[in-house]
Amino acid sequence: MKEEKQHQNQQHHHLRRIIMISNKKFTRPTIYLILLVLSYTLGYLCASTSTTTTKQKITSSTLTTSIANNPPIASAATDDVTSDSDHFRFLTRCADPISSKLVRKTILDRVFNGTSPFNEFPPPHIKSLLRPKRIKGWGSKGAVFENLIRKVKPRTIIEVGTFLGASAIHMAELTRGLGLRTQILCVDDFRGWPGFRDRFKDIQMVNGDLMLMYQFMQNVVYSNATKSVLPIPFSTGSALEKLCEWGVLGDLVEVDAGHDFHSAWSDINRAYKILRPGGVMFGHDYFTSADERGVRRAVNLFAQVKGLRVQVDGQHWVIDSA
Ligand SMILES: C[S@@+](CC[C@H](N)C(=O)[O-])C[C@H]1O[C@@H](n2cnc3c(N)ncnc32)[C@H](O)[C@@H]1O
Repeated sequence: MKEEKQHQNQQHHHLRRIIMISNKKFTRPTIYLILLVLSYTLGYLCASTSTTTTKQKITSSTLTTSIANNPPIASAATDDVTSDSDHFRFLTRCADPISSKLVRKTILDRVFNGTSPFNEFPPPHIKSLLRPKRIKGWGSKGAVFENLIRKVKPRTIIEVGTFLGASAIHMAELTRGLGLRTQILCVDDFRGWPGFRDRFKDIQMVNGDLMLMYQFMQNVVYSNATKSVLPIPFSTGSALEKLCEWGVLGDLVEVDAGHDFHSAWSDINRAYKILRPGGVMFGHDYFTSADERGVRRAVNLFAQVKGLRVQVDGQHWVIDSA
């Protein structure tokens, strides 16, 4: 107790000395000014620390609520790394668009070592595994295809999700009929989905490898569309990133690959990056209940984030960037 009292006395003494020295060296207004600057600096430091902490604590549920209440502006949603809209960022900035005349050659060079995959197709050891024609799709001949092709007159179409080529071949026939010189790029890993052969037993499997891409190519050969259709046989994520990097943009981009929310969300965001300004992006399954309406939720959220309007054409959704 005694020691503590002594310590307090010492401290008071010390403080008095400081004040006395201060009084000698500084005038009262100067001291007030110093105190003001110190408290301002302290306040500023505290505020910036607490903002960072709040940002880190934002959860996905608050994010959804905040979007519902305050639809973000496109630039804010895509440019601010530290903001709560980080989920909306798809980082890549695309290269300057190449001319549509160079699209086919670019894909042949970059993906197929400069040779058409249709040369000498089918290889002899595969021929017996294919049917001359096996085309099956879903909503693949909907009115939306003709409506959009007539409207946009596309030089390049990028299809994300092709399967056996029903919609791609339909678009090739439509563009040919309209006298357009359109190149159609078909992004698909040609794996279908686990268990798809329950309904497509006739698509052969060799040592676990599916003949889906070969059957798609055979369908393109059968339809006499090898000059206008090219496969890009990779996952949608990696293929769309590369198209963006190479400056390969589409006037029309159709999204019809994975139908769960996360796949559709990622594909739509990436697809929009490679849409030529003024082009149209569209896709199937806006109304189907598959994957808990994953496509519909992704399309609506995307349109909300970007401030775009979703139109409906039959079973298809359409977003016109013009
Ligand atoms: C519904 S089908 C496409 C149907 C086609 N658009 C039509 O109407 O004829 C979906 C296709 O997307 C492909 N796919 C799904 N997820 C994919 C992914 N992550 N990467 C590449 N292809 C994918 C599947 O292989 C399948 O062929």
